[in-house]
Amino acid sequence: MDQKNKKHIMILGIVIGAMLLILVAVLVAVSVSRNSRNKLDEMDPFDIALTFGDDPKTHKNFSWYTVSGPERSIVEYYPLETGEAATDKFDLTRASSAEGFTETIDTYLPKEGDEYSASAVLEPKSFTRHAVFVSGLSAGKKYVYRVGDGTNWSSPGLFTTAPDSTVSKTEGFSFIIVSDVQGFVYSDYELWAKVFRKSSEMCSDPAFMVNLGDFVERQDNALVWKYYFDLPEGLRNVTTVPVIGNKDDKMFMNYFLLGTKDGVNGLNGYYSFDYMNVHFTVLNTGDGSKDLSKTQVKWLKRDLESANAKNAAFRVVLIHKAPYSDRNHADDSEIVEIRAQLLPVFDEYGVDVVLEGHDHYYFRSEPVTDNGTAVAGYTASVVNSRGESVNVFTLTGENGVPGGSFYFMPGASGVKQHNKSFRDMPEILTARSIIVDDPTFCICDVTEDHIYFYTYSVDRYRSVTEVVECWGIGK
Ligand SMILES: [Fe+2]
Repeated sequence: MDQKNKKHIMILGIVIGAMLLILVAVLVAVSVSRNSRNKLDEMDPFDIALTFGDDPKTHKNFSWYTVSGPERSIVEYYPLETGEAATDKFDLTRASSAEGFTETIDTYLPKEGDEYSASAVLEPKSFTRHAVFVSGLSAGKKYVYRVGDGTNWSSPGLFTTAPDSTVSKTEGFSFIIVSDVQGFVYSDYELWAKVFRKSSEMCSDPAFMVNLGDFVERQDNALVWKYYFDLPEGLRNVTTVPVIGNKDDKMFMNYFLLGTKDGVNGLNGYYSFDYMNVHFTVLNTGDGSKDLSKTQVKWLKRDLESANAKNAAFRVVLIHKAPYSDRNHADDSEIVEIRAQLLPVFDEYGVDVVLEGHDHYYFRSEPVTDNGTAVAGYTASVVNSRGESVNVFTLTGENGVPGGSFYFMPGASGVKQHNKSFRDMPEILTARSIIVDDPTFCICDVTEDHIYFYTYSVDRYRSVTEVVECWGIGK
C-alpha cells in the first residue's frame, strides 16, 4: 500500500470514528432526555392548577403535587402595579401568604421501561397533594405567585382576577376553550402543548381556559396528568375552568381544587360562577347511574333561577357528554337519557349556549327551541372580527325576549379525532357537522351584545392553523 492510500484509509478511519462518537453522544442525549421526561423524584411542585374559587374577582384556588413529604402547602402572592412588568424574580417583601392542607393521593405510574406504551402496566405510587384557597384578592388585578412548603418553591407564575364591572358594548373578556386532550403517551401531550401555544398566540391574556373534559386517557396514570400540566409552557399562568370527563373520573377532584374553604359549591364536580355578568354553569355527567343525579338537576334549576343567572348578559352551560350531537355518541343510551333530562331545562331557563365535548369532532346546532325540536327565530348577519368573517345569529324571541339555545362542540384538542359517519337523527337540528383530522381550539370574545366563537385546527406537523368556523350570537 502506498503512502497516499494509507493516508486516505487513516482519514476515513478518523471520519468513521468521529461519526460513531457523534452517534453515541446523540443516543445518550436522547436517552437522558427521555428519562428526564419521566423523572418525578425532585422536590419541586408539579401539576400546578389554578381554578376559580367562589368569586373570580376575589378568590383563587391552587392545587399541586409533590413526590412526597412536605406537610405544608403555602401560596405567596402580590399584585403588580398598573403597567408593571412581571419578572422572573419573586419580591418577597411585597408578598401575602395563605396556607392550605395536604393529603396523600394513592395513584399509579407506569412500570419502569413501560413509560412510552399506551397500555403501560401501572404500579402503585403515592404522592402528596397540596391545596390552598386564596381569598380577599382585589378585582381586576394581575398577581405574581409561587407555591411551596416554605423551603422549596415553584418558579413565579401569574394570575388575574375578574374585573369588578359588567360587560358593555366596548368592554368584555376573552377566553380559550379546549376539550378531550385525552393523551396516551408523551408525544400526545407534545401535540397538546402545541395546541395550547397556538391558542395563547391568538389569545395572549385570556380571562380563563375552559377544558370540557377528558384530560387524560387513563385517569390512574399520574405520569400523563403530569404531561398535561407541565408540557404546555405558560399553562400555570392561566386559570382553568375544568369540566369532568368520563375518562377523568375520580382523579379529577385531586387535580383541581373547586369551591371555597367553607362552601360546598363544586364538591360533587358541578358548580357555577359569574365572570363580569356572564353566568357559567358547569355540569358533571358522571354523578348519576346513567344520567345526571336528581340532586344535580335540582341544583341546576336552582342555579339557573338565581338572580345572577337571570340577569346575566349571557348564560353558558359547560358539559362533557354532549346532550346534542349527530355522530359517534349521539345515540348512546346515556346520551339519550341526558338529552331528555337537560334539553327541557335549558329551554325553560333560556340558556344561550351549551359548550359540549366527548364526541371529538366539530358540531354546532341550529338555535333550537321546544326541547330541541324547532328552530328559533333569528336574523343572520356577517361581521368582521379578529380578521375573520363571523356568522352572527341574532335571536328574535317573543316579546323581545331572545329564545333558543345553541349546542356547540368545538372539536377535540388532542391526538384522538373521531370520524364516524353522520347519524341521520331527525330530531337533531344540525347547522355544522365537520370531521376535523387535526386538533382544535376555540377563542371566545364576549361583550354586552355579542358572544363570538372562533375555532381553529392546528396542523400536527407544520406550524399552521386553519379556521374551522367563526360564528356568534348577537343580542
Ligand atoms: Fe369523553
